[in-house]
Amino acid sequence: MQPFVLESSRVRLEVPRTADTVAIHEACQDPELQRFTTVPVPYTFEDAQYFVSQTVERSWLTGREYIWGLREQGSSLCLGIVSIRLLHHDIGFWSAPEARGRGLMTEAVRLVTDWAFSEGLSDVKWEGYVGNRASAGVARRAGFTYTGTGPGLQPDRERRHPACWQARLLPGDDTSTKPGWPLETLPGADAP
Ligand SMILES: CC(C)(COP(=O)(O)OP(=O)(O)OC[C@H]1O[C@@H](n2cnc3c(N)ncnc32)[C@H](O)[C@@H]1OP(=O)(O)O)[C@@H](O)C(=O)NCCC(=O)NCCS
Repeated sequence: MQPFVLESSRVRLEVPRTADTVAIHEACQDPELQRFTTVPVPYTFEDAQYFVSQTVERSWLTGREYIWGLREQGSSLCLGIVSIRLLHHDIGFWSAPEARGRGLMTEAVRLVTDWAFSEGLSDVKWEGYVGNRASAGVARRAGFTYTGTGPGLQPDRERRHPACWQARLLPGDDTSTKPGWPLETLPGADAP
């Protein structure tokens, strides 16, 4: 598949390119990002180069995973990554710390799920390690329905399948928040 662009009035999703290497390398130093994703730790500049030049290209070429760089309209700066893997229809994402808290990733996820359903996918799945409330928040705001906690579809860095919160979006689902998200997935659940 040739990479293609998805966009809204606010967000532009475009394949990561060489010019994004510095931004990706910098964002992937974030401990939160390292904790909740499978990026290599430590994350070197060569890792970012490999990701942009090899992983991204191969993923699009084989159709295994479509990977986009998240940008705000009017800016070429890569603020994050969002992708969908075609085997299980599961979505993955991260954003740079300075790009968080503005709804950019939620909008990016909606763009990807709208595209997936326009292509006839039967569902889109989300999973996040238990405790990843920020990620659960994106899935919740994008209209996903919580389906339970279970071993992750995707192996972690140690090739294990850790307990994940899981959710699913179906064609025709609107983006309203669905009932059933357990209390522990909500912001501030640890607060006394
Ligand atoms: C997961 C991650 C991408 C979420 O980022 P985020 O900034 O919380 O997500 P968004 O960009 O969609 O922003 C949502 C926030 O913006 C707010 N917001 C502002 N305007 C908004 C809008 N128009 N629409 C939606 N949310 C909006 C929301 O209220 C929310 O803030 P809150 O969580 O304090 O309520 C980010 O925390 C991250 O990269 N974490 C590390 C990597 C990771 O965990 N990846 C996921 C692995 S499963």
